[in-house]
Amino acid sequence: MKKLIFSLSVIVGLVSCKNDDGVTSIDPDSGTGSDSIALNLNKMLIPELIDTRNIIGPVNIDIQNGSHEFYTGIPSQTKGFNGNYLGPTILMEKDSDVNLRFTNSIGETTTVHGHGLHIPGNVDGGPQLQIQPGSTWDVTLPIRQEASTNWYHPHLMGKTAEHVHAGLAGLYYIEDSNSQTLDIPKTYGVDDIPVVVQDRTFADGVMVPYATAVAGQMELRESTLVVNGTIDPYVSVPQGNVRLRLLNGSNARSYEFFLKGDKPFQIIATEGGFLDAPVTLTKLSMAPGERNEIVIDMSAGDVELMAYYLEEEEKYADRNVDELHRVLYLQADTTATILNTSIPGSLNSIQRYNAADVVNNRDFILRNDMTINNQLMDMNVINERINKGELEKWYVRSSEHPFHMHGVSFLILSVNGQTPPPEDQGWKDTFMPYGEGEILLKFDYDATDQFPYMYHCHILEHEDMGMMGQFTVQ
Ligand code: C2O
Ligand code: CU
Ligand code: CU
Repeated sequence: MKKLIFSLSVIVGLVSCKNDDGVTSIDPDSGTGSDSIALNLNKMLIPELIDTRNIIGPVNIDIQNGSHEFYTGIPSQTKGFNGNYLGPTILMEKDSDVNLRFTNSIGETTTVHGHGLHIPGNVDGGPQLQIQPGSTWDVTLPIRQEASTNWYHPHLMGKTAEHVHAGLAGLYYIEDSNSQTLDIPKTYGVDDIPVVVQDRTFADGVMVPYATAVAGQMELRESTLVVNGTIDPYVSVPQGNVRLRLLNGSNARSYEFFLKGDKPFQIIATEGGFLDAPVTLTKLSMAPGERNEIVIDMSAGDVELMAYYLEEEEKYADRNVDELHRVLYLQADTTATILNTSIPGSLNSIQRYNAADVVNNRDFILRNDMTINNQLMDMNVINERINKGELEKWYVRSSEHPFHMHGVSFLILSVNGQTPPPEDQGWKDTFMPYGEGEILLKFDYDATDQFPYMYHCHILEHEDMGMMGQFTVQ
């Protein structure tokens, strides 16, 4: 990975200094007092974009073992899709049928689930849809939902956490006429940046493998942030608006994101699509599995995206400085063309459900003994049967478990007795009420007894321990 060499002629207001090794680093806080630190940054990896609008025939994706240098010159054993760690961003257009061909070259069984996709159970990539070592899974994904940032990852019973931890995760972007027409940052890797946030442990620069890292723990929270597979990353962006597509791809850790100095930013999309209108925030908490799209104004110069590590039971941190980490250094490139400077006031028109139309109510109680409704996952048991096209209201009680279900997006009706704040009024598929809440949802596609959908805790260790259930839609 390339080291960032800052020079005074480019970075206005920053002071450069020489390290022992001669690498020039920057001191962004120079002159502001005692908390100044020199930065030694790596150019953030941007996953390859596979734009399926331009491809005829199947997109070939090899699930492979790899070796990735998180630290320059020090390889770690990893897994990736078409590469050493993580996978390509696969762009799919609404109303297309996307053909993918996954080949399993990792020497053990896995699956590839489309998290956030509204697709039938028989192509959803859940625990039943196993890809044996050496074999190929040809799948056609019928994309009928609105523009949104989703992701793919293995979902084999008991192995999800290990496979994701090794690097098996990637982004599925869905675009539609709205997303392609809206005047928002939308140039991939330029002002529309994927940001996959994970935590890992390193020993002498080598990523500690899953089994060792997790040993004896109920959930794996690690110390070092890894963003798109890059440690201490920076990205150079135009001095206008920049859109970050955040994915909390960690096994178990939740984060409170904010900009250094508590600068405001806008949230424009949640997991299942754009909000009706941008919402200005100064902090944003995200549990594992969640995605959010935010827009950052770079006109005043460099910006640092920061995060506090959260305890599982809290929505926002008490801002203990020991838990403070830089996620991404955004360097304002004064030479880059500014592509966007303002976000439209109207982004979407969400067709909201009416709670009066609810046909079915269900309760989901997530307990710390890893059960949901007092049951552990049993591949031979269908826990719920749902009628296709009927509006349902789910009551979810969960203080520390992010609750995710397949095949659908939902709208939050209430959280701990309150109407959700505007930034939580968009489409979602992962719900962390930190207490209790109600969601409205309607399933439009089939999931049979043979290929049911899952609901589960998205702390991957909990999921693997059985904090999951199966349901059909017919
Ligand atoms: Cu992200 Cu059932 O998974
Ligand atoms: Cu999912
Ligand atoms: Cu859990």
